[in-house]
Amino acid sequence: MNVRKAVIPVAGKGTRFLPASKAIPKEMLTIVDRPTIQYIVEEVVASGIEEIVFVTSQGKSAIENHFDYDFELDTILRQKGKDALCEEINHISNLIDITTVRQKKPLGLGHAIWTTRNVIGDEPFLVLLGDDLVLSKVPCCQQMLTLHQELDAPIVAIQRVSPEETNQYGIVEGTQLREGVYQIDRMVEKPAPGTTDSDLAIIGRYLLTPEIFAMLEKTTPGHGGEIQLTDALLALAKQRPMYAYEFSGTRFDAGDKLGYLKAIVAYALRHPVVCKEFKKHIKEVCADF
Ligand code: G1P
Repeated sequence: MNVRKAVIPVAGKGTRFLPASKAIPKEMLTIVDRPTIQYIVEEVVASGIEEIVFVTSQGKSAIENHFDYDFELDTILRQKGKDALCEEINHISNLIDITTVRQKKPLGLGHAIWTTRNVIGDEPFLVLLGDDLVLSKVPCCQQMLTLHQELDAPIVAIQRVSPEETNQYGIVEGTQLREGVYQIDRMVEKPAPGTTDSDLAIIGRYLLTPEIFAMLEKTTPGHGGEIQLTDALLALAKQRPMYAYEFSGTRFDAGDKLGYLKAIVAYALRHPVVCKEFKKHIKEVCADF
């Protein structure tokens, strides 16, 4: 079955990014010339998806406004003769159909996904976490869609991390089927140091099947007292084959201060307008240290 929809949970408070995220959703923090959430939406669009479902909460209306048509801004820009900028702004509101659902309580990622059950219905769907930016030739979601066509099963995107970092991720233990593809045997959310030998960390890209909703319904609070998507996925993996995929590309954790800075540098070095001067500046700065 074709994958037509993508869920992007954006309800989190962004505590890792305080005080910057106190009055502004962390997803609206800028990377070069656009908010991080726009990169995520652009990845979805580039992968041929038809509809996005944002899971929002109070204080996140700026995200919806960013993808909305702004009549007043349109009028002002046209009056000033700034037609090109106007087209660019309007393009954002025409990228893709967006629906929003509210996560009324901060009960975790699993709960956020569960709130979309009526909007998603009985079809496979993608999940993209707003913190995780992936720079790649082929969009990460597109890579997962291609693999899904072959495997017809849920897939989580993974990357290798150091043993000191495994306690920050959902970790997959699996059997390698071929280069970059593993069948999942076990998953654990943020394992305590020394409790897993695996270095395969889930990043914020999932291709899920609607069976996950029944699993989430039964999932009790896990790590951090939250309903964890990883726990529901593990329950599902005991019933049917599920896969982990080592995607090609570089992932940035833009919800973390250092990861955010790394993302800015990487995207600026690829930006058609600022890249040349920025590269020169970086070289000069580095020479001084
Ligand atoms: C979430 C998931 C975790 C995954 C991570 C990737 O955790 O629960 O399994 O490894 O995203 O970014 P969070 O970072 O939201 O705590």
